[in-house]
Amino acid sequence: MHLSVHGVSKSFGEGRQAKLVLDDISFSIKSGEFVALVGSSGSGKSTVMRLIAGLERPSAGVIALDGQSVRGPGSDRGMVFQKYSLYPWMTAAQNVAFGMSLQGLPRPLVRERTAYFLEVVGLQDAARRLPKELSGGMQQRVAIARALAADPKVVLLDEPFGALDLQIRESMQEFLYQLWQRSGLTALLITHDLEEALLLAQRVHIMAPRPGRIVRTVEADLDRSNLPHLRMSAPFLELREELVTTLRNLDAAAS
Ligand SMILES: Nc1ncnc2c1ncn2[C@@H]1O[C@H](COP(=O)(O)OP(=O)(O)O)[C@@H](O)[C@H]1O
Ligand SMILES: [Mg+2]
Repeated sequence: MHLSVHGVSKSFGEGRQAKLVLDDISFSIKSGEFVALVGSSGSGKSTVMRLIAGLERPSAGVIALDGQSVRGPGSDRGMVFQKYSLYPWMTAAQNVAFGMSLQGLPRPLVRERTAYFLEVVGLQDAARRLPKELSGGMQQRVAIARALAADPKVVLLDEPFGALDLQIRESMQEFLYQLWQRSGLTALLITHDLEEALLLAQRVHIMAPRPGRIVRTVEADLDRSNLPHLRMSAPFLELREELVTTLRNLDAAAS
């Protein structure tokens, strides 16, 4: 699997009204990698995600998945959003099963995979519950199970924990990291939270706004065997501090 974003720019609007939102974005992800895109609000992160998802077309440049140019949405890319991504009238199991049923998988297989992926996210006991009967963290785990169940080549997560309280967010970060380790999924995490990006991703692309562009790429080569410990370790805090300073200087230069 190889997802490549090459020289991608995006403008909204026409002529003199046109606004450049993304300027010459390039990066790539290979099988099994966990990559993060981090940047302040308005730096164009969600636009990058929508382009990869095939919900928008680039104004320039190419997005390709395994050498095939992305021309629209497809089940080879799984998506998890910040919130409201579950159907409120469907149970957890029905939400997970939905995409597979659309793909036309036979019902016994859909049932089997639904049970399996609910178990992967630790929610086998919540199969018959409605989203409103689940906590925010549990809802996001259902959303992740649904994304994985469709067997995508890459999972795109746009601020998946942004609406959760700090403590739950931290436990969900640890959950996602363990899931990635266990299941070998390929993930693109989009977040405004530098700590979250550095904690989870091996490679972090830092974006700045107006226009949205990648200003720095960091290989976050850290020992992740104990994430709660890593959060407070000296190498982690030093790296975070250095990047926060870089970003602050960029913001100051821009304003
Ligand atoms: N469909 C659209 N039409 C016009 N402007 C848009 C559209 N989508 C996004 N934008 C603008 O693009 C910029 C980046 O937005 P977005 O990708 O949502 O950033 P982020 O996810 O990093 O907060 C914002 O200024 C936003 O207003
Ligand atoms: Mg966004």
